[in-house]
Amino acid sequence: MENILKSYIAEKGMMSLSEFMQICLGHPTHGYYIKSEVFGQDGDFTTAPEISQMFGEIIGLWLVDCIDKLPVSADYNIIELGPGRGTLMADILRSMAKFKAKFKLNIHMVEMSPKLREMQREKLSGFADNITWYKDLDELKKSINSSPCLFVANEFFDALPINQYEFLDGVWYERMVGVKDGKIAPTLSMRPVEVELPHILEGRAADGAIFENSPATKFYLGKIIDILKRNKGAALIIDYGHDGHGFGDSLQAVKAHKYAKIFKNLGKQDITAHVNFTSLKEIAKAQNLMVSPVVTQANFLGDLAIGLRAQMLIRKNPEQEMQIAQALNRLIGEDEMGTLFKVLCLHNCEFTPVGFGLE
Ligand SMILES: C[S@@+](CC[C@H](N)C(=O)[O-])C[C@H]1O[C@@H](n2cnc3c(N)ncnc32)[C@H](O)[C@@H]1O
Repeated sequence: MENILKSYIAEKGMMSLSEFMQICLGHPTHGYYIKSEVFGQDGDFTTAPEISQMFGEIIGLWLVDCIDKLPVSADYNIIELGPGRGTLMADILRSMAKFKAKFKLNIHMVEMSPKLREMQREKLSGFADNITWYKDLDELKKSINSSPCLFVANEFFDALPINQYEFLDGVWYERMVGVKDGKIAPTLSMRPVEVELPHILEGRAADGAIFENSPATKFYLGKIIDILKRNKGAALIIDYGHDGHGFGDSLQAVKAHKYAKIFKNLGKQDITAHVNFTSLKEIAKAQNLMVSPVVTQANFLGDLAIGLRAQMLIRKNPEQEMQIAQALNRLIGEDEMGTLFKVLCLHNCEFTPVGFGLE
């Protein structure tokens, strides 16, 4: 990976952080998501569906509620973005199966990693035969039918590349990646750059302030919105991040469940950034979509009665009481995922999605 980055820089000059993240995570042969064992105890991080089946079951129920509220259709498209090991979709389909007499589902998985696509296929082999895989949203858009679409994206947007800018002596410089003393290292653009700040931040940067934006997020969300406008439906976005514009450096690398240095272990560690939910809402609203409030994962799962589900599971499996209680706490605990993770629903149908304190 180091040589790939160096030859790119030798040919084109220093690269943006977006390009750096894109290559480290998604390079077709050496990218992190393409090559590594990323999930679980032996991997680098654990996501909510890998913690407990309750997470996917609750999202399955959320989808059933949406289908109930959408205009009647011969079938419905459920689309997962970045499905990891396929665990979330397996739990979703298991919980939706109880309602399968009521509607027909087409399942779509958008995954860039061939290795993860294989893993997902294996995991879902017993579930449904109408599951289709796509490497990106363009492929999906070309082949999906015109029925309503329900997108689910858990920890997808945090994996998308960001750019960063630093405010020094009254001007902005872009944080870039170059080579220093023979090693890949952070650097700043030679010249100041123009940065388009959200209104609320204009004139408020102190010396040394960092501003982040994500053209990739805009690009992917734009494609989701295009499909929603054409087909109708909703998108459920769950990720760690904040609701509100601000300054700060949220880029982080994780290896073996510990924070790591961004410019070490190139291509062998996860690199992510906090998702700016305010930006997501603004992009959607500008395209005339409706947006829910941004709520914490604890509020969303709590509203959908995850506590009751945990009690039911404990009643059925009393010997697992402690594990189930611990998993519940990891999903909704304040110092765990409960507060840092946020949930947002974008939709273009006149309906009130459950889980956002609106009902
Ligand atoms: C952090 S993992 C989340 C996995 C899963 N959603 C979960 O909750 O366990 C990110 C996932 O998004 C996929 N991914 C990242 N960038 C992508 C892109 N640009 N297009 C499609 N999939 C992508 C990764 O390969 C991986 O499956």
